[in-house]
Amino acid sequence: MPRIFSGIQPSGELHIGNYLGAVKNWVELQHQHQCFICIVDHHAITQPYEPDAFEQRTLDMAVGLIAAGIDPDKCVLFVQSHVAAHTELAWIFNAVTPIGYLERMTQFKDKSQHQESVLAGLLNYPVLQAADVLLYKADLVPIGEDQIQHVELMREIARKWNAKYCRDFFPEPQAKIGTAKRIRGLDGQAKMSKSLGNTVAMLDEPDEIWEHIRMAQTDPARVTRKDPGTPEKCNVYALHQHFSAPSMVDEVADKCRGAAWGCVDCKRVLADNVAQTFSPMRERAKQLQDDPKALGDTLATGAARAREVADETMAGVREHMGYLIQHAGY
Ligand code: TYM
Repeated sequence: MPRIFSGIQPSGELHIGNYLGAVKNWVELQHQHQCFICIVDHHAITQPYEPDAFEQRTLDMAVGLIAAGIDPDKCVLFVQSHVAAHTELAWIFNAVTPIGYLERMTQFKDKSQHQESVLAGLLNYPVLQAADVLLYKADLVPIGEDQIQHVELMREIARKWNAKYCRDFFPEPQAKIGTAKRIRGLDGQAKMSKSLGNTVAMLDEPDEIWEHIRMAQTDPARVTRKDPGTPEKCNVYALHQHFSAPSMVDEVADKCRGAAWGCVDCKRVLADNVAQTFSPMRERAKQLQDDPKALGDTLATGAARAREVADETMAGVREHMGYLIQHAGY
């Protein structure tokens, strides 16, 4: 069975962007692959975050993932900091990764602009990401478009380590991109992202979903209700393609072009369909939240299963690199 690894930061909520771009694909792939799904808390600390809320956000992400359909009996679902080998391998990879490669990463360039004094953790972020995936010798990494460069870098890191220490030890993982590779936020401009405040959360109640979608940007040509629009220029239409039946998507396009509907009518239908799509997930999330002990047990089991694979990889890494193993007491 091909092995999959992917990760998500506990930096807020599951929203339409990371759900459609990544999590929905994981749910489908878990049936034919051996899946490792990781809540990457060590990555989240490279940007400002609230320590007091961190634990809860990590648990909330676990709830969101299981509610979205990640089955902890099929997948290894775990929290990154529960498996210490991630940071150990990241340190080791720092010793084969040229700084120039890291400085070229688009995400580093974007995010470092918002840091007064740029943190080494932000620069080394993709090295930890390489360790995440290579620790499990994963074949495929299902992600959204914004992570492709990081997967290219981990292939480079695998090649460098293999060339220096042991040929073919780490396989070169491939990025796997789904059809929803870049969901735009409700501002219609940037990628949907919690930090930009342009999201619709999967677990929002229907009235909250409506409140968010009501404010979404549409085709700027539709100044008044009578102005015809171009659906292809409208992010609300793009979202209909993910949440509405094909016949409704056609109807939306016709009514937009012919100005038979105002944008509010179009948004109303979208909001209803989004709320309906996520309705079973909201119910499931409530059940999971009611049983924190079971959730904790699930994460502990996931970490134990992950550690088994990670420990085996690390034993090979240390041996090939010449570390003193005999007295280590691992
Ligand atoms: P993160 O937490 O930002 O996002 C999780 C996944 O969701 C995808 N995604 C999107 N896809 C389409 N449209 C959007 N608007 C959108 N927003 C988010 C992301 O591409 C990602 O696949 N660095 C990673 C986490 C990570 C990781 C890994 C991923 C750490 N280690 C190892 C894969 C393998 C990140 O910050 O994702």
